[in-house]
Amino acid sequence: MKEVLEELERRRATARLGGGQARIDAQHKRGKLTARERIDLLMDENSFEEFDMYVEHRCADFGMEKSKIPGDGVVTGWGTINGRVVYVFAKDFTVFGGSLSEAHAKKITKIQDMALQNRAPIIGLFDAGGARIQEGVAALGGYGEVFLRNVLASGVIPQISVIMGPCAGGDVYSPAMTDFIFMVKDTSYMFVTGPDVVKTVTNETVTAEELGGARVHTTKSSIADRAYENDVETLLQMRRLLDFLPSNNQSGVPELPTKDSPDRAEPSLDTLIPDNPNKPYDIKELILKVVDEADFFEIQEAFAKNIVTGFARLEGRTVGIVANQPMVLAGVLDSDASRKGARFVRFCDCFDIPIITFVDVPGFLPGTAQEYGGLIKHGAKLLFAYSEATVPKVTVITRKAYGGAYDVMSSKHIRGDVNYAWPTAEIAVMGAKGAAEILYRADLGDADKIAARIKEYQDRFANPFIAAERGYIDEVILPRNTRRRICRALNMLRNKTVENPWKKHDNIPL
Ligand code: HXC
Repeated sequence: MKEVLEELERRRATARLGGGQARIDAQHKRGKLTARERIDLLMDENSFEEFDMYVEHRCADFGMEKSKIPGDGVVTGWGTINGRVVYVFAKDFTVFGGSLSEAHAKKITKIQDMALQNRAPIIGLFDAGGARIQEGVAALGGYGEVFLRNVLASGVIPQISVIMGPCAGGDVYSPAMTDFIFMVKDTSYMFVTGPDVVKTVTNETVTAEELGGARVHTTKSSIADRAYENDVETLLQMRRLLDFLPSNNQSGVPELPTKDSPDRAEPSLDTLIPDNPNKPYDIKELILKVVDEADFFEIQEAFAKNIVTGFARLEGRTVGIVANQPMVLAGVLDSDASRKGARFVRFCDCFDIPIITFVDVPGFLPGTAQEYGGLIKHGAKLLFAYSEATVPKVTVITRKAYGGAYDVMSSKHIRGDVNYAWPTAEIAVMGAKGAAEILYRADLGDADKIAARIKEYQDRFANPFIAAERGYIDEVILPRNTRRRICRALNMLRNKTVENPWKKHDNIPL
């Protein structure tokens, strides 16, 4: 018996060593942790249970039959994060560069199947060189099996991808179909084809970092939702994110204890809006002052900063926040902001997370760049996402709600449940200056006359009461009471039940 136990320990120790000490040292030298070290940080202490530790590839080409390493380049299993079950797979770069073989893919799909069947989130940690080149089409087949499962699980369980090293070729499309992608600054990069192929095909000279580093994907392509300084910070932030997310689309949001009273008033909000309507203010100040304990997990903070998206809690329960940001481009909606907002709204709707919308929007951004870039379709994405969403939707207009953007930003007309306005709200087709200049074109040469026309329009429409008279606004509220009002609204909406007409799926403008 003792020998059998020793044999088990010996086998486990060999598997845990992955590609060997030299490769582990090389990994550390690059500032990266190993797959198992990462999992240990991500999961609750001693909660991780590894599966398929002894799986080896079956490839007999290119001398591979002589080179087998237990685990085959990916560590898979399940554990808990703050007590809740989560499935995980982590590419082990020390084993064949983390490349994907048929056996490696089967380990991942086993975990994907379990996560979906048991309705718990799945997190993938990526650090790999793509398809196992020696296996050829068997590796491609493996990728296909992983991709299919990503799609089937989409909208049922949260799927999170964390890029912690190379992520190229076949490895990029699985993350791309998950809900969120996070990266580690300086040590991770993502691209379909690497710098060498780029050079051959387009004659561009570019480094891996320039082509697909964290900066590129968080600020330019918007592929990644956020980037962090190093492995440790990234994994700790993933634990924080998981606390906001439901386990699946039917579990309801997690509820965390909070000492923050729902009745907490914030008198400073009464003076948040500057007297000059063209002066910006920071919408994040409002968000932080309204949510529980000022705890806000921002998504895509470095991209399309004219709209702010992220998770917070009210009375301990997760909400999604969408807010125009007057500090950036006056909070205008452009193509990037619309896409960013739409994707976030759809995530919240999938997973039954109520959506709080703070509106201060001067309209859609004019110009050839926007129109040629498809503003109509991109803007429609946000409109579509809000319209189809059946979760509780609470809207607060703080200042401007102009034009089509008024309709889009969770207005009453597209099933906003409770729509509040601050006394400073201006709900109109457009700003007073633009409106007067169109309506009274003949007066344009006369500065005094046009100023009087602007004032007339301003006096008539630059307030929340015209909309409130029509019932488009449910109540005009004191800014200081915003938290209390939203908390009350969410409690009232707790059992909201709305169903869209039956359909196979909708046809959102892509
Ligand atoms: C087999 C691989 C491998 C791969 C790396 N290795 N990638 N083995 N298949 N795809 C092995 C290396 O041979 C090496 O083994 C070890 O992993 C570490 O790799 P290095 O090259 O020494 O590391 P580094 O210098 O850090 O470079 C990392 C890398 C590079 C940038 C990822 O390895 C690389 O370019 N790999 C190939 C990437 C690629 O073209 N993949 C195929 C994509 S096509 P030894 O034993 O020497 O240490 C694809 C199509 C799928 O994925 C499409 C599906 C839709």
